[in-house]
Amino acid sequence: MNIDVNAVPTPSYVLDLGILHHNLQILASVRRKTGCKILLAFKGFAMFSLFPVIRKYLQGASASSLDEARLASDEFGGEVHVYMPAYKEEEFSEILSYADHLVFNSFSQLERFKDKVLASPRNISCGIRLNPQYSEVEVELYNPCARYSRLGVTEKEFQPEKLDNIQGLHFHALCGQNADSLTHTLDRVEAQFGEYLHRMVWVNFGGGHHITRKDYDINQLCRLIDRVQDRYGVAVYLEPGEAVALHAGVLVTQVLDIIRNEINIAILDTSAAAHMPDVLEMPYRPEIAGAGLPGQYEHTYRLGGLTCLAGDVVGDYSFPDPLTVGQKLVFQDMAHYTMVKNNTFNGVRLPSIGIYDPERRTTKIIRSFSYEDYKTRLS
Ligand SMILES: Cc1ncc(COP(=O)(O)O)c(C=O)c1O
Repeated sequence: MNIDVNAVPTPSYVLDLGILHHNLQILASVRRKTGCKILLAFKGFAMFSLFPVIRKYLQGASASSLDEARLASDEFGGEVHVYMPAYKEEEFSEILSYADHLVFNSFSQLERFKDKVLASPRNISCGIRLNPQYSEVEVELYNPCARYSRLGVTEKEFQPEKLDNIQGLHFHALCGQNADSLTHTLDRVEAQFGEYLHRMVWVNFGGGHHITRKDYDINQLCRLIDRVQDRYGVAVYLEPGEAVALHAGVLVTQVLDIIRNEINIAILDTSAAAHMPDVLEMPYRPEIAGAGLPGQYEHTYRLGGLTCLAGDVVGDYSFPDPLTVGQKLVFQDMAHYTMVKNNTFNGVRLPSIGIYDPERRTTKIIRSFSYEDYKTRLS
């Protein structure tokens, strides 16, 4: 990405339109080859100013709350698919006004709400989320099939006698994985639930497919989609979040101070806790343009955030030259699971949001935040 870091205020998330287009073209090629439909999972990326661009390539959106469903209906268009671990009585009729597909997490939720769905003047297709009890996700926090998971119905709890109003099955068991993991997961899904797939209209493979990563095996994904579509006569849906915005955005920050406590420490005008919470939750180490592992270059620093949380540390990085106050640092791959998850902890202001257009070579800030954004979340 060739953005002019001096042209943006810090901190700012800046999205590269060229990379977004590139990712979307890859996703569109999967649709072209297989006829499957691909939805944007808002939980991973919901930059609505870009929905008109994304909508040219993807067929709809996957929402996991009332507000995401409304955003999908108001701003994205196309098909609106909703799944929530549990629906609330007081929200349900509004959700019905937006949803085209509604996935239930349990048969008890289906029983509770099915009459309302049937009474709706809209033609809503219902599904059940499965838990194949198989996943290759190693981090427990992100493993939908970890022991005792609340997400989806296991084979043992499945109630085929209640499938009358169910047209689809949904599973989501991947997280940033390649098609080999999908192969193994799908084998389990078919072994456990294959007989019911024959009765369905659609199957949703969930998200977690790293389709836009360089080493992703797209041909294998297409083979699996074809297999399921041919074998069961169903339409296949994918609902990636991360793959849509993978490597498409950066977070531009600035060094505010450099101190020493046995090691060199730089304090930045961002926060791992507030602006890139997955760095602490996952945890993972974001790349910084021009920086390396500790000791790789001559000058190593611990990079810390602006909040008073002791653990608000992004990690240890080395640089060829000493850092200086005012220097800009650019964190890579910061478009997904950042804007949608950030918060105003400590009153730290949210990063601005910008778009880099490689064709025009322009960087434009499209949203800035203020004291009001902090205050309106409190009372
Ligand atoms: C049900 C469901 N669908 C889709 C996604 C999107 O996953 P990803 O952003 O990893 O593609 C998630 C992520 O947690 C999910 O829980």
